[in-house]
Amino acid sequence: RTTFRWIWRLTYLSVLGTLGYTAYVIYDDRNPGEQSVPDPSKKTLVILGTGWGSVALLKNLNTENYNVVVVSPRNYFLFTPLLPSCTTGLIEHRSIMEPVRAILRHKKGAANYYEAEATHVDTERKVITVVDNSEIKGPATPNEIPYDMLVVGVGAENATFGIPGVREHSCFLKEIGDAQRIRKKIMDCVETAALRGQSEEEMNRLMHMVVVGGGPTGVEFAGELQDFFEEDIKKLVPGISPRFKVTLIEALPNVLPSFSKQLIDYTENTLREEKIDIMTKTMVKNVTENTVEAEISKPDGTKERVQIPYGLLVWATGNAVRPIVKDMMSRIPAQKDSRRGLAVNEYLVVQGARDVWAVGDCAVAGYAPTAQVASQEGSFLARLFNNMAKTESLEGRIHDLSSKMNLKAGNAADDAREIELLEKQLRRIKDVKPFRYSHQGSLAYIGSEKAVADVSWWNGNLATGGSLTYLFWRSAYLSMCFSTRNRVLVILDWLKSKAFGRDISRE
Ligand code: FAD
Ligand code: NAI
Repeated sequence: RTTFRWIWRLTYLSVLGTLGYTAYVIYDDRNPGEQSVPDPSKKTLVILGTGWGSVALLKNLNTENYNVVVVSPRNYFLFTPLLPSCTTGLIEHRSIMEPVRAILRHKKGAANYYEAEATHVDTERKVITVVDNSEIKGPATPNEIPYDMLVVGVGAENATFGIPGVREHSCFLKEIGDAQRIRKKIMDCVETAALRGQSEEEMNRLMHMVVVGGGPTGVEFAGELQDFFEEDIKKLVPGISPRFKVTLIEALPNVLPSFSKQLIDYTENTLREEKIDIMTKTMVKNVTENTVEAEISKPDGTKERVQIPYGLLVWATGNAVRPIVKDMMSRIPAQKDSRRGLAVNEYLVVQGARDVWAVGDCAVAGYAPTAQVASQEGSFLARLFNNMAKTESLEGRIHDLSSKMNLKAGNAADDAREIELLEKQLRRIKDVKPFRYSHQGSLAYIGSEKAVADVSWWNGNLATGGSLTYLFWRSAYLSMCFSTRNRVLVILDWLKSKAFGRDISRE
C-alpha cells in the first residue's frame, strides 16, 4: 500500500511538473524578453533560406554579434519529416510550420527578415540581388543587399532528370503547397471516381495512385496514402474501394537503397502486405496527363515498355540544384567540377569565394542531403561565428592593453597578466575543429503503424522495424519538432485523427 501511495504521489508530481513546465514555456513563448536592435556598424551576416540549415544556425547564433539579415521566400521553417502526414490530413500543415519572425523574436539581438528570393550573388562586390515573388510586390524589386559574410542555405529543388511531362502533370512533395495539392487531388480522384456514369476503365485510372521514387519520401508517402485509404476512405466511400491501388515505382532493384539489407526486405514485405504494388527495376521515361510510360528491366536482361494509367502521380526522385546555386557555380572558377551543389571545405567555406559559407542540401560536403546533416552544419556555423566574434573582441582588448602598456599608462604588470590570460583564451577559441557529421541513424515510416530504423547504438548499429519502432519514430520526431507549440499541435492532430478520422473534405 505504501509503495502504491508513493508511486501515485510521484506520478502526480511528475504530471504537475510537466504541466507547470509546459505552462512556463508557453508563457515565455508569448512574452519574449527585450531585444537589442540590429547594429549596422557590426559586420552584416546575410543568411539565405529558412530551412533546416539556416534555422539551426539562427537558433544557436548570438545575433548580438552581427547585423543579421535573413532572406527567404518562405517566412517559416518547415519540419519536413512530418510533411508526408500532411498529404492525407493526419497532421494539419500549420502544425509543422514555425514562423521565422517568431524564431527571430526570441533572439537576444534582433535580426532583419526579408521575404524575397535571392537570384544572384556577386561574390566580388559582396552583394546579393533579391526579388519579391509574392503576390504583393515591394517598392524596389529587384533589390541589392550588401554583405560582409554570407551563408547560403537555399536547399535543393525537385529532380526531374528532364523527363518530359513530369513538371506539368505530377505533384512533388517538398513544400507545404505540394502536400496541400496532393491532399486535394486524392479526394478529387475519389469523388470523381464515385460520380455516376464513369466507365470502369476511368474509375480504375482515377483510383490508381502512382508514386515514382522508392527513396524515403516515396515510401513514407505510399505508406501514409495506404493508411488513409484503409482507415478513412474505405469506410466513407465504400463503393469505389475495391479499385483503390497504390503503386510505387523505383528504378533500382530495391526501395530505400540507403537502409540496411534487412530493413529493405522488411520494408518491401510490409508494403506488399499493405497491398502496395512495388515495381522495382522500373524507370519512368515519360509522363502524360493520364499515363506514365516506364521501362522495366527484366531478369533476362531485356527491357519492356509499359503504359501505366494514373489518377494521382507523386514524383519523389530526389534533389536537383537550385538556379541560384547553379549560377554561383558557373561564376566561381573553383566550382567548375562540382555537380551536385556548392563544394565546401571542412569549415563549410564555399571553395573559391571569400566570406561565403554553405549549409544543407545546396552544399557538397560529402554527406547525404538530410535534415540531420543540414542542422548539424547550421549549428557548427553558429559556433564558428560566435567564436569569430569572441576572437575579434579579445583581439581588440589585447590591442588596447598593449597600446596602454606602450604608452606606459596604468599598471603594466596587471595589464601583462591580463594579456597573457586573454591570449590563452584566444588560442582556445581559435582552435575550432573542422566540421564532422555525427550520424544518429535513419528512420522511416512505412505504413500500417510500422517504421524502420537504422540507428547508432553504443559502438555499433541497430536495425529494427515494426510497431515498437513506430512508437520510437513518433517520439523521436515529436521531440525534434521546432517548438512546444508544434509539439502540442502535432499531438492534438494525432489524437484528433485517431478519434474522429481524417477530414476528407476537399477545400
Ligand atoms: P531546406 O530545408 O529545403 O530549406 C531551404 C530554404 O531556402 C527554404 O526556406 C527555401 O524557401 C529557401 N530558399 C529557396 N530558394 C531560395 C532563394 N533563391 N533565396 C533565398 N532562400 C531560398 N531528412 C531527414 O534527415 N530526416 C527526415 O525524416 C526527412 N524527411 C523528409 C521528408 C520529406 C517529405 C522531404 C522532402 C525531405 C525530408 N528530409 C529528411 C530531407 C530534409 O528535409 C532536407 O535534407 C533538409 O530540408 C535540407 O535542409 P536545407 O536547410 O538545406 O534546405
Ligand atoms: P532519394 O534520392 O533518396 O530517392 C529517389 C529515388 O528515386 C532513388 O531511389 C532513385 O533510384 C529513384 N528514381 C530516380 N529517377 C527515377 C525514375 N525515372 N523512375 C523511377 N525511379 C527513379 O530521394 P528522396 O526520397 O526524395 O529523399 C531525398 C533526401 O531526403 C535523401 O537524402 C533522403 O535520405 C532524405 N529523406 C529522408 C527521410 C527520412 O530519413 N525518413 C524522408 C525523406 C527524405
